[in-house]
Amino acid sequence: MPEVKPIRVAVLGCGTVGTEVVRLLTDQAEDLRHRIGAPVELAGIAVRRLNKDRDVPRELLTTDAAGLVTSDDVDVVVEVIGGIEPTRTWLLDALRSGKSVVTANKALLAEHAADLFEAADSSGADLYFEAAVAGAIPLLRPLRESLAGDRITRVMGIVNGTTNFILSAMDATGAGYGETLEEASRLGYAEADPTADVDGFDAASKAAILASLAFHTRVTAGDVHREGIAQVSAADIAAAKGLGRTVKLLAICERVVADGTESVAVRVHPAMIPRSHPLASVNGAFNAVFVEADAAGEMMFYGRGAGGAPTASAVLGDLVAVARNKVASGRGPRESAYAALPVQPMGNTPTRYHISLDVADKPGVLSQVAAVFAEHHVSIAAVRQEGRTEDASLVIVTHAASDAALRSTVDKIGGLPVVREVVSVMRVEGEE
Ligand code: NDP
Ligand code: HSE
Repeated sequence: MPEVKPIRVAVLGCGTVGTEVVRLLTDQAEDLRHRIGAPVELAGIAVRRLNKDRDVPRELLTTDAAGLVTSDDVDVVVEVIGGIEPTRTWLLDALRSGKSVVTANKALLAEHAADLFEAADSSGADLYFEAAVAGAIPLLRPLRESLAGDRITRVMGIVNGTTNFILSAMDATGAGYGETLEEASRLGYAEADPTADVDGFDAASKAAILASLAFHTRVTAGDVHREGIAQVSAADIAAAKGLGRTVKLLAICERVVADGTESVAVRVHPAMIPRSHPLASVNGAFNAVFVEADAAGEMMFYGRGAGGAPTASAVLGDLVAVARNKVASGRGPRESAYAALPVQPMGNTPTRYHISLDVADKPGVLSQVAAVFAEHHVSIAAVRQEGRTEDASLVIVTHAASDAALRSTVDKIGGLPVVREVVSVMRVEGEE
């Protein structure tokens, strides 16, 4: 191979993902050189603590990330630190000085993608972020490139491994949320502070990124309706099981057309899905995402959504793409937000509910409950009642209605004197 100028790479962060990025870059240097058409060399690795024990070349470590990202000796910056600041400032500086960026940082992209793309455009640099959603699974490249000629209508999936592990375990054991979270932490499946995962922030960031790419529209994390899994009870799981369903935390991005006007609806919440649905068999820390497009039809992407090596695989794929673009003096795809569709509020979004009630078992109860649904223009799809001695268990599944109408219906039903307890309320997805 003729002598070609090496691509010099700065890696910011050397934790779970960064360590594997450095390992793959080093172990596969020769193959990468052939695949790219130029050698790839590590220019430096920015960390917080220089004296921490780690299996990377010590001479490359630095605490001066700001200096590294603007160094003339660096062509590409790989960011695997996370968080908004100071990474945002460093990546803007890198992009403005013409260095392409590869990042796994979903929180940053879900808030500041527009600024980052603008900085990339100002210098003609690339911005790639495959690892930010669903770890190793090639998903953003298909949305951004392979499906760029199609019209995507829906993206729905399981994009958080921690919550999927907890919900899978609750389904398998019948245990409650609290004790299952403790077990997940003990086994290392949940972080010491699991808030970002269990409260749905992580999935909401990923949903914002998916919706932005799928619908050519800027969607930020703040646009995403977000509910976590802390309220999912053993009773919810049991109710789902009783109806041949299971509970998953879903990220759902939809193109909605009403009265000839298009908008997008983006939400993250737990939902019951039929046990026969392909997403129902996605268990433990795995991720899976369904994409529906007009011409392509339905597609499913499945694999490891987290972990050092799987995430590093996606980072390296981006690094190869960026390096190839540099060798060819070209550029990868820029931001595509031309559609600028409005984001629909959750209240207007059509959903279906499963409602499980403990009611008094006497004449007229069902008609009182049914009247509340009728009053809110919510159509009932199925009712199941199991009598006991003085009370009964009533399970109602609705047809699609606006989420606001369904909420109001549940609030009013909860106040009926004949309703002893609203045992479980959960949205239903994956069936019609
Ligand atoms: P870790 O916490 O394991 O590692 C973070 C690294 O960043 C550490 O090496 C740390 O240095 C370094 N760091 C933190 N602050 C600074 C700073 N101010 N200056 C320089 N270095 C700093 O994180 P992960 O590897 O798990 O995650 C990295 C990114 O990848 C995040 O954006 C995350 O969301 C994303 N991601 C992670 C996945 C995973 O499975 N872990 C999956 C998909 C995406 P030190 O080692 O000295 O403490
Ligand atoms: N905390 C995330 C998860 C890591 O549980 O899926 C991957 O982004």
